[in-house]
Amino acid sequence: PIQSVIELHNNKYESDDYFNLTPKILTYLDQNLHLKKNHPLSLIRQRIVNFFYNEYANPKGTPLFSVFDRMSPIVTVKQNFDSLLIPENHPSRAKSDCYYINREYMLRAHCTAHQVELLRSGLDNFLIVGDVYRRDEIDATHFPVFHQVDAVRVIHNDKLFKNNPDLEIFEKNYSENHNSTSIGSSEKCIDQVKQPCHTVESVKLVEYEMKNALERLVITLFGKKLKFRWVDAYFPFTQPSWELEIYHNDKWFEILGCGIMRNEILSKAGIHNSIGYAFGLGLERLAMIIYDIPDIRLFWSQDSGFLNQFNEKDLNKTIKYKPISQFPQCSNDISFWLPSELSFETFSLNDVYDVVRNIGGDIVEQVTLLDKFTHPKTGKNSLTFRIIYRHMERTLTQKEVNEVHEAISNELIKKYNIKIR
Ligand code: PHE
Repeated sequence: PIQSVIELHNNKYESDDYFNLTPKILTYLDQNLHLKKNHPLSLIRQRIVNFFYNEYANPKGTPLFSVFDRMSPIVTVKQNFDSLLIPENHPSRAKSDCYYINREYMLRAHCTAHQVELLRSGLDNFLIVGDVYRRDEIDATHFPVFHQVDAVRVIHNDKLFKNNPDLEIFEKNYSENHNSTSIGSSEKCIDQVKQPCHTVESVKLVEYEMKNALERLVITLFGKKLKFRWVDAYFPFTQPSWELEIYHNDKWFEILGCGIMRNEILSKAGIHNSIGYAFGLGLERLAMIIYDIPDIRLFWSQDSGFLNQFNEKDLNKTIKYKPISQFPQCSNDISFWLPSELSFETFSLNDVYDVVRNIGGDIVEQVTLLDKFTHPKTGKNSLTFRIIYRHMERTLTQKEVNEVHEAISNELIKKYNIKIR
């Protein structure tokens, strides 16, 4: 493997066979859209933070929650996965789904990556806001970078059962260091009511508080008429777990994941006799629905016609995005043969999407897999993609689209040894 040194945020990293960052991805690293003035993601961040400041304050009115919105997205694989009890073989760790610097470092795939270090530092109520990175398909709702708000709230036994001193967080026959459940077995075997160590009373009380807070948050964001529902879910770091879905334009949208924190995480972080909840929500999804923003690339637009429609002074005003203008799309197809040793299963589509994104940049609106074909005689496998190009701010000429399209196909040939059909 090629050894080279990459410098990121003033630190040097030695790349290894896991390295899969692209130059394009690196350009997103310090943009901090969630902190940018008058940016819709920043507006939603402020509304969520304000909600938690108001919802949880001590009798003097001081907010209970601390906010961390400037943590570097470069984290260790340990932080992103191991610290959260995500098994070694979990599919979310795949190279085809994450951006790795090397076997030890990566771009965080969720803000939950910081949960354990903050718990260890002694915090019990906090929010983490930041950019997260995932390799993914290309369309109007997917982008390899998006933003999340994560939260943790830990409650000590004495507080939780202040009014019921005879109740306890933990079952009598469970020591709190007891591993809460045997994860790694099938996800279907997970008890959706509680971890073995917890009493039903403690789980129900925290579940009620969490769901109540989150329901009030989404009603604050979307208005009283909102239709929502809770769906059972699975995360390795919470049990039980749920997703909250909201109804919008005749469809259900998942907007957050949450649950009761695995006790093993708390006890390993040195927090005892306590129980907690955690959640993580995606800001783009919320902003697209709240402001009627039709395309996820718009968040990265530098156009004043976009940003000027959002003003921090109107934090709680109903803002509806008015399209600056719609420029025409240009569509070009590309068909190629995979190298003979590769099958459809061993070839990663995300590798194609990364090249397209890297060379085409933000003028690529959508990539669809049109066709898979295996030649009856040679057994060779072929893929056909349609790439739709559209600039957010001007009309593209066919000539410039052709140039980009050709550059994409040249890069695919060079990197993956494919043959254009
Ligand atoms: N990290 C999860 C995700 O990105 C969301 C989550 C956070 C779920 C905290 C439960 C608790 O999908």
